[in-house]
Amino acid sequence: MMFFKEVGKVAGLRKKIAEASVDTSKTFLSQVSIAHTRWATHGPPSIANCHPLKSDPKAEFTVVHNGIVTNAAALRLLLQKRGFRFESETDTEAVAILTKYIYDSQPDKRISFPDLIKTVLKELEGSFAFVFKSCHYPNEVVTARRGSPLLIGVKTEKKLKVDFVDVEFAGPEGDAKSLDALAPTSPGGLLAPPSAGPNLLRTQSRAFMSEDGMPQPIEFFVASDASAIIEHTKRVLYLEDDDIAHIAEGELHIHRLRRNDGDGPQVATHRMIETLEIELAEIMKGKFDHFMQKEIYEQPESVVNTMRGRVNFDQNVITLGGLRAYLPIIRRGRRIVFCACGTSYHSAIATRAIFEELTEIPVSVELASDFLDRKTPIFRDDVCVFVSQSGETADTILALRYCLERGALCVGIVNTVGSTISRETHCGVHINAGPEIGVASTKAYTSQYIALLMVALQLSEDRLSLMNRRTQIIEGLHALPGQIRKVLDNDKSLQDLATGVLANQRSLLLMGRGYQYATCLEGALKIKEISYMHSEGILAGELKHGPLALIDENMPVIIIMTQDSLYPKVQSAFSQITARKAQPIVVCNENDDAIPKGVKTIRVPKTVDCLQGILNIIPLQLLSYHLAVRNGFDVDFPRNLAKSVTTE
Ligand code: F6R
Repeated sequence: MMFFKEVGKVAGLRKKIAEASVDTSKTFLSQVSIAHTRWATHGPPSIANCHPLKSDPKAEFTVVHNGIVTNAAALRLLLQKRGFRFESETDTEAVAILTKYIYDSQPDKRISFPDLIKTVLKELEGSFAFVFKSCHYPNEVVTARRGSPLLIGVKTEKKLKVDFVDVEFAGPEGDAKSLDALAPTSPGGLLAPPSAGPNLLRTQSRAFMSEDGMPQPIEFFVASDASAIIEHTKRVLYLEDDDIAHIAEGELHIHRLRRNDGDGPQVATHRMIETLEIELAEIMKGKFDHFMQKEIYEQPESVVNTMRGRVNFDQNVITLGGLRAYLPIIRRGRRIVFCACGTSYHSAIATRAIFEELTEIPVSVELASDFLDRKTPIFRDDVCVFVSQSGETADTILALRYCLERGALCVGIVNTVGSTISRETHCGVHINAGPEIGVASTKAYTSQYIALLMVALQLSEDRLSLMNRRTQIIEGLHALPGQIRKVLDNDKSLQDLATGVLANQRSLLLMGRGYQYATCLEGALKIKEISYMHSEGILAGELKHGPLALIDENMPVIIIMTQDSLYPKVQSAFSQITARKAQPIVVCNENDDAIPKGVKTIRVPKTVDCLQGILNIIPLQLLSYHLAVRNGFDVDFPRNLAKSVTTE
């Protein structure tokens, strides 16, 4: 077995392998390979902490892992007491060593690989997606998930006879002893062989056959995200929590950790193979220098894709197929609770007011982590809306499950088809923004914004008193793609700001109110996450309650002053800060001639008040991009951040 590890970019690893002069065509083709890129969660980024982690110097068991094993410290202690040595600070190494420990405990070593892993998983707490490999099971792989996403790509030349894989359910809980039972007094300190007892429920698992009935040469790709495998195959099978997939000799078998008995939710008895709709070109940078830049520039098209087939501009009708059957329940709901993290949370803040105006249902907006920390009361007549680009954010998934348990109607607003949130919600809307690769979310924000707005428009379709307002908004949606193009045309002036007055600044405040408060929060998040500059979104109405103390001639400020009903109030905030010698940059409408001469402006087209935030965020996305480029930072992969936050 060969190991290659490197800290930093994949390119560094490639270089290392190239320098080792490994003949990859010979070495890797005949065998199973596992690899993993991840952010450090236990211990600093170092070669020792890089995955795969092995059980011992001979690497009898090797593991890659996405997620966090929360009882790793207890396992580590227990295994150290039994003489095992650890080389890394990771939680994953405890899993590799535990696997060896359990394997060594088997008197005849005849346990199958999936049964061995079942026993291991029963000892683990936390969230995980694992891939295991072992010299004791050559050319076999076991992969399993709980709480972290996992999918298997299936590549064949011919069409398959069956489009699904049967699931095999394990025996009842407790067929393997817990590690707690491993007192030194237990016979030899060994675990009992797992399952295989009389309670085992078996359904027939099928090998893949082509339509002509012949077994198929087949390749499998295990990944946590479809974009990782799209260049190899578009045929994928999404694993559920507690699925254990075993790949050996060209066959894929899926086992369950628990049986489908009366307690708890029933689990489907097979997993479908689905065809992805994304294209390889969609996840390439094309003519752009960075994914983020490409994604900002895609917005005239991505907003159209969000509306395509859903907005009838001739008749002012919105049709969201995924919600239709649930509209009466939503309308009867006592309140609507939006739940999300980061940028997705901001899209909920941005649309809350129009949602309340159009539906007349009270809306609260919750950060998923805080919502869970508070154990927020949720009832059967609540409608809970989960907004997520990836559909895999751990906090949002946990909040969703919390609401499902309490009987609320759960709606997903998700970009990634097949993701956990899109599968586990009762109904929802895919935002269809296309794959978003840059860690800083851009086009997903504008598409989430529009998707949420469309939900509000559809919910209010019967309200005669709102007819004019609805028409105005739908006409605004129609004009939006062209207006976004106009904003993008100003890119050069934003680059000039980033390399001019805002270069070398340590801090930047963004102020606005009403619809633009969300724009300020989102703009500040973009700036801090990729340019590492401190930035804060401030509600202009709060100025006098504290933030005004920050203002002097040295504090850079952007104030959003586009023309809506709150314009006079924002003008007064402008006066308050200029009176304290601030020299704000003003985001304002193209035709606004009330802005005092000499003030730096970022001009955007005017649209309906509730849509203006979509146009206003784009210059801030571009500004953050140029600040990061100017500072030489890694725009698409900012330090310490991951695209999909699959751990709490
Ligand atoms: C910021 C950003 C994050 C995500 C957040 C939620 O640019 O991308 O704040 O918005 O981690 O992720 P999703 O939307 O995938 O649930």
